[in-house]
Amino acid sequence: MSKKVLITGGAGFVGSSLGLGLAERYPDWKITALDNLKRRGSELNLPRLKQVGIEFIHGDVRNKEDLDPIALEPDLILECSAEPSVLAGYNSPGYVLQTNLVGTINCLELARQTQANFIFLSTSRVYPIAHLNALKFTETETRFQLVDEQSLPGVSSQGISEEFPLDGARSLYGATKLASELLIAEYADAYGIITLINRCGVLTGPWQMGKVDQGVFALWMAAHYFGRSLKYIGYGGTGKQIRDFLHIADLLDLIDLQIYNFDKLKGQTFNVGGGAENTLSLYETTQLCQKNTGHNISITPVPENRPGDVPIFITDYRKIRQATGWKPQRNAEATLTDIYKWIYEFKDIVSNVFV
Ligand SMILES: NC(=O)c1ccc[n+]([C@@H]2O[C@H](COP(=O)([O-])OP(=O)(O)OC[C@H]3O[C@@H](n4cnc5c(N)ncnc54)[C@H](O)[C@@H]3O)[C@@H](O)[C@H]2O)c1
Repeated sequence: MSKKVLITGGAGFVGSSLGLGLAERYPDWKITALDNLKRRGSELNLPRLKQVGIEFIHGDVRNKEDLDPIALEPDLILECSAEPSVLAGYNSPGYVLQTNLVGTINCLELARQTQANFIFLSTSRVYPIAHLNALKFTETETRFQLVDEQSLPGVSSQGISEEFPLDGARSLYGATKLASELLIAEYADAYGIITLINRCGVLTGPWQMGKVDQGVFALWMAAHYFGRSLKYIGYGGTGKQIRDFLHIADLLDLIDLQIYNFDKLKGQTFNVGGGAENTLSLYETTQLCQKNTGHNISITPVPENRPGDVPIFITDYRKIRQATGWKPQRNAEATLTDIYKWIYEFKDIVSNVFV
């Protein structure tokens, strides 16, 4: 079955990786990537998209005129555009609100007018900060460790499930995503659109243009490779904060499965991430980066926490595993080595991105 796929944010890390992966798997699909190139480094993906025949539109999801139903006529929309930094909303709310919320509404309008199926890249950041900060954990030599006995529902040593409470502040970034989720449910109900929501933990892999406030694993490897300094920010400055990570190739496998299982999965929301078996602290990440690059760099401890930060996030992805059989295949070593190889091969063009 041939498809017309529109990927908003299609020059970004997730959007371009999904577009390139789907183009390789389904050469007869017509894939269009729409992006305003706000993210530094997204422009580096344009020749890659062109090479596999993905059409690029320099457009902005904030402008509904850029999402013309007659010109685009998609039968599937992958909504990957965003200001994806939690910190961005603390500096000024305008861009986050307009892109992450108004932008989603404009994409939903396109779906309504074309009856396109709709997959939304949401975030683990929909879960409230105070609840995440109340999680019980122990401390080892290299990391914080979630314990099984927790006072909140929806959390165990396997991580945070979809049952975790949603009341409380979650950052403007998280709020725009949760508000988008609510609107997606309304559009599905009112207009019969087939939708699916993936609440993603940290995603990473080659071609992630990491920066201090987003894309930490790629940033970490790049700083080691290029010999730049880093900081362990927050939680005493020891680098023990924990995240699960999901290799972008594992996300591609999942999205591919989802596209072919809308009948079964439609209308549902899934936590998607690497899970308890794929977690790293910053300290452990440093060790893997040192191993890959052979470089030791200066990492300054900054004990004070950043706004909106949390010491631990691990995705409990058992709901999507049960529904599809999917599970992540790439572990920490494989994932960080892939990032290293990419930076090594493309050092000349990516060195200016990681500043
Ligand atoms: N990378 C992660 O760890 C992660 C985790 C959870 C959720 N997500 C979600 O996945 C999606 C993709 O994130 P990413 O990591 O690829 O980020 P990214 O910044 O690499 O990609 C987002 C793309 O959207 C584009 N964009 C920004 N504003 C736009 C606008 N107004 N109109 C059109 N394009 C615009 C940017 O230029 C960029 O290319 C986002 O919705 C993000 O919230 C990402």
